Amino acid sequence: FDVSWDAASAEKGGWPSFMAKEVAEEPDAVANTIRGRVQDGAVVIPELDGSDELFRGIDRIIITACGTASYAGMVGKYALEQWARVPVDVELAHEFRYRDPVIGENTLVVSISQSGETMDTLMAVKYARERGARTLSICNTQGATIPRESDAVVYTHAGPEVAVASTKAFVAQITALLLLGLHAGRVRGTVSAADAAAAVADLEALPAKIAKVLADEQAHVTQLAGWMADTRSVLFLGRHVGYPIALEGALKLKEISYIHAEGFAAGELKHGPIALIEPGQPVFVLLPSPRHSALLHAKVVSNIQEIRARGARVIVIAEEGDAAVLPFADEVIRIPLAGALFEPILAVVPLQIFAMALATAKGLDVDQPRNLAKSVTVE
Ligand code: AGP
Repeated sequence: FDVSWDAASAEKGGWPSFMAKEVAEEPDAVANTIRGRVQDGAVVIPELDGSDELFRGIDRIIITACGTASYAGMVGKYALEQWARVPVDVELAHEFRYRDPVIGENTLVVSISQSGETMDTLMAVKYARERGARTLSICNTQGATIPRESDAVVYTHAGPEVAVASTKAFVAQITALLLLGLHAGRVRGTVSAADAAAAVADLEALPAKIAKVLADEQAHVTQLAGWMADTRSVLFLGRHVGYPIALEGALKLKEISYIHAEGFAAGELKHGPIALIEPGQPVFVLLPSPRHSALLHAKVVSNIQEIRARGARVIVIAEEGDAAVLPFADEVIRIPLAGALFEPILAVVPLQIFAMALATAKGLDVDQPRNLAKSVTVE
C-alpha cells in the first residue's frame, strides 16, 4: 500500500496545479468579495463607513496598478464613470510617478494589488499621498504594505493566490471595483436606486454564472488549446470593457505558455494590426452583447468578418443565444447573459482556461513560469 503525498499536492486539493484550483475557486472569490457589502438592495462597503469624504468633492480619479491588476482597473474605469460620474484615468504605476501628473487634494488615487507589496504600485501610492491626493487601495492581502499606506482599503476576498498567473484575484478585483463604483455613486448621489438594485442583482448572479462557464466550456476550451499547442502567435480583440479582457487573455498566454500574444482594441484593427492577419492566424474575439449596444455588437461582427476574410481562425466569445457570428466563427465559446459591466468577469474565464490548457499541453509548469515572481517587490 503506497501513498504518494507531499505538502504541495495536498495544498492543491486534488487539482493538477494551483492555477487550476484557483480558477475553480472563482465563483467563491466573487461571492466572498460581495458578501456583507449589500444592504437593502444597495452597495454599502462597511470598511468605507465614515470615509464619504473620499468621494465627495473629487474632480478626478486615477486608478494605478501593474499587469493584470491594471486591466481590472481598466474595467473599473467604466464602472466608476458610469455610477460615480467622475472622470477616471488608468495609469500603470511605474509610469505614473515618473512624470508630473496633475493631482492634488481633489484627486482620488485608487491602487489595485493582489499582493499589496508590488513596489511600483506602492511607490505610486506614496507619491500620490505626498502630492496631497486621497488614496484608496483594493488589495487581496490583509495588512499588506499598500493598504497600510492608503487612506482606505477595500479588500478582495479571493483567498490566497499561489500561482504566479493571477486568475481568481483578477475577477475579485473587478468585483471590488464594481462595488466601489456603486458605493461611490450612492455617496455622491449619482446612481439611481433602480440602477443600483439592477446592478446588485447582476453582481449576486455572477458566482453561479462563472460556475456555469466552468461547467459548460472547460472541456471545449481545453480541447481547443490541445489543437493549438504548436501555435506560435495568438491575437485577442475586444472593445469597450472587452478590450482589457483581450489584454488579459494575451498576458495570461504570454506568461505561462511563452507564446507570442497580443491584445488589441477591435476598433484599432484597421489602423495597423489587421496587417498581422494571415491564413490560420488564431484570433479570439470578445463579442459584446447586442442587448447592451446593437451598434457595438455590429461593429465587432464586422471586425470578425474582416479578419475571417483574410483567413484568420476566429474563436468568438459570445453570450448565449447570439447567433449573429455563427456564419463567421470557427469556434464559439458561450457565456451567460449579464449586464454590460459584468460580462468581463465571465468572458475572462475561458481565456484563463485556454492559457492554462495550452501551457499544460506544452508540458510547462503553469504555476511557476520562467523568469516571473508572484510579487514584484523591486522597482
Ligand atoms: C498576473 O498574472 C501577473 N503575474 C502580474 O501582471 C501581476 O498582476 C502584477 O505583477 C501585479 O501584481 P499585484 O496585483 O500583486 O500588485
